[in-house]
Amino acid sequence: MSGRVVVVTGASGGVGAAAARELARQGDDVVVVGRNPRRTQQVANEIKAQHFICDYSDLDDVRRLAEDLRNNLDHIDVLANNAGGVMPSRELSLDGHEMTLQVNHLAPFLLTNLLVDMLERSRASVITTSSVAHRTARLTMRDPELARGWSPWRAYANSKLMNILFTRELHKRYSLKGISSACFHPGIVASSFALDLPGPAGVFYRSRVGRSMMVSPEHAAKTLVFLARGRPPRDWISGLYYNDSEPVRPSRKARNPRLATQLWRMSAAMVGLPE
Ligand SMILES: NC(=O)c1ccc[n+]([C@@H]2O[C@H](COP(=O)([O-])OP(=O)(O)OC[C@H]3O[C@@H](n4cnc5c(N)ncnc54)[C@H](OP(=O)(O)O)[C@@H]3O)[C@@H](O)[C@H]2O)c1
Repeated sequence: MSGRVVVVTGASGGVGAAAARELARQGDDVVVVGRNPRRTQQVANEIKAQHFICDYSDLDDVRRLAEDLRNNLDHIDVLANNAGGVMPSRELSLDGHEMTLQVNHLAPFLLTNLLVDMLERSRASVITTSSVAHRTARLTMRDPELARGWSPWRAYANSKLMNILFTRELHKRYSLKGISSACFHPGIVASSFALDLPGPAGVFYRSRVGRSMMVSPEHAAKTLVFLARGRPPRDWISGLYYNDSEPVRPSRKARNPRLATQLWRMSAAMVGLPE
């Protein structure tokens, strides 16, 4: 690979696929990562990109993905941690973690850490797809897996808060070593997101009226493309949360540096990494 290498996870559909297409159109060497083999290959073929399959519900699969990326790429300019979703019921991953926590936070946390030396050498940007939903999070370190009081949106909001805390702690730990980090809210997107949710939220996401009020994946991908194409600090500032390609102040919890450090340590212990 000769050009800028941009790894996009969750690139088999929705925001990730739209970003992958636009980044490829603008000349980047995009690496497509998805879970569903057929959809992932389809996007990769369309843009003539390398692709990798990974299911985040199994952390060994994430470890394999990191190994595959290291073996096949000599540098990574951008890692876009975009894969994620909201789960219809409380399930545990193969590793025994609440699924939303694992797919939306622990897996990208592990992937980023396993690639960190390569990201440092490449002076890479790590971009994470968060959500405005983080504002309703009630995360406590006493029950991060929501053994009590689980609901799809509670678990989702917590995980999207974690995306921001991760971005800020990554900035604190690695910005002087060359890694820039940012996260963003893509908008409420007419993608495959939330389609299998029970209750009124699922009805809204599936309905024609609901979808007419949402933005397209192509529109939602604009901020990801802006961050992936831009160069910090010229175009954006590391450690911040973006919406519509502009920095926005996230919730008070998201700005709590102690919580960010606690979350990092807890996540490292959960995935078997040193603090
Ligand atoms: N849609 C919204 O309204 C909205 C709002 C705010 C934030 N977001 C965030 O935007 C990001 C992209 O969502 P989207 O709207 O594009 O939804 P989407 O169309 O459902 O796409 C989700 C992507 O994540 C992948 N993924 C899901 N579970 C996975 C797992 N266990 N392991 C590996 N990959 C997995 C999917 O892979 P496969 O398709 O191959 O299974 C797909 O590529 C997510 O992080 C989401 O939280 C979405």
